[in-house]
Amino acid sequence: MTDLSSALPLDRRRMFQLAAVLGGSMALGERALAAPGGPSASAAPSLKVAPGTIRLNGNEYWEGPVEDGTDAARSAVARSNYYDPAGERDALIETVATMERVGADHVVPWAGSGSPLARSVVGFCSPQRGLVTADPTFEVAWMVAGYVGAPVAKVPLRASDQAHDVRAMLAANPQAGLYYICNPNNPTGSLTPMEDIVWLANAMPKDAVLLLDEAYLHFSHAASGMDLVRNGSNVIILRTFSKIFGMAGMRMGLSIARPELQARLMQYDGVIQTLQLPVPALACASASLRRMEQITARREQNTQTREKTAAFLAQRGLTVLPSAANMLMVDWGKPAAPIKAGFEAKGIAIGRSWPIWPTRSRITIGSPAEMERFCNTVERVVSQA
Ligand SMILES: Cc1ncc(COP(=O)(O)O)c(C=O)c1O
Repeated sequence: MTDLSSALPLDRRRMFQLAAVLGGSMALGERALAAPGGPSASAAPSLKVAPGTIRLNGNEYWEGPVEDGTDAARSAVARSNYYDPAGERDALIETVATMERVGADHVVPWAGSGSPLARSVVGFCSPQRGLVTADPTFEVAWMVAGYVGAPVAKVPLRASDQAHDVRAMLAANPQAGLYYICNPNNPTGSLTPMEDIVWLANAMPKDAVLLLDEAYLHFSHAASGMDLVRNGSNVIILRTFSKIFGMAGMRMGLSIARPELQARLMQYDGVIQTLQLPVPALACASASLRRMEQITARREQNTQTREKTAAFLAQRGLTVLPSAANMLMVDWGKPAAPIKAGFEAKGIAIGRSWPIWPTRSRITIGSPAEMERFCNTVERVVSQA
């Protein structure tokens, strides 16, 4: 049995501080992280955009849940006076366990995957055991590491293919508590080869954990790292229904790992957070998983729209990184902030840039019609910025 006893328990005061931060960040989504000083209830940026604005800024999917999911959610609303009268939580766990060929005790549902992501940092990092991530990547883990006083090593993506540079990640902190890999990565949509992920899982310290965030996996043809969970490795896999399943506003995500690892995510109110979940979201998630052919169709359409958009941008001399997800990182060759403002003035909300890449913006792939409008607007915005 792997020894996980070295991660420090948090004192009570810190737990309360962190709970406040997590509440803010999870409710607000990743855009809150762009706020100076991090998220807070009063300084929180609104997720609202002007009516009619095209939303290419939040990596959401442009359509709601598949029809069976919506129907299941609708009928669950009528039973929502009870906590979980039909056992929707157990049903989702069983469905996922069967699909992923893991034990039901390995599957924990949450109201989104952001919460288990943050809890992984709390559970496995400390001032002595740091966090290692790529740069750029999804930054929630950085923020939580700051709150637990854990050192953060940010390792640039490999220049040749924007994969996680796993050897450099291990070298950056050979004694880290948590190594975070987002595959496909946010904001690049780039893939990390499975052999590299397996290498890191085997090469990291025996009491460290690899957190593999597969929020965007179903947009790609990449394999999941689930074999690492099946073979008992110290790996936690995160999945979310917020992306290709079209359920960002319903809040449903999963952590999949050995029960001993899951137990470390349960500190403070964790058990409550996983036991009492919105029943319409649970029902919607289960019903959606039974219609995977429709999710596959979404993937194919997203790929077509993404590649068409990328080709258009490349023809105009803009550098676009190859992506396997619902986002494109575009290099404008000049500061990204005025370009973002220029698009917004024309009714298109695009994504932000990352400090390491100040001339690039992340563009979420919307519907074919939305991307056509985006393409038709590019030249005007870039020339005026
Ligand atoms: C890589 C990644 N992980 C996790 C999340 C959290 O999403 P949610 O809490 O909606 O599941 C996001 C959201 O954008 C993300 O991009």
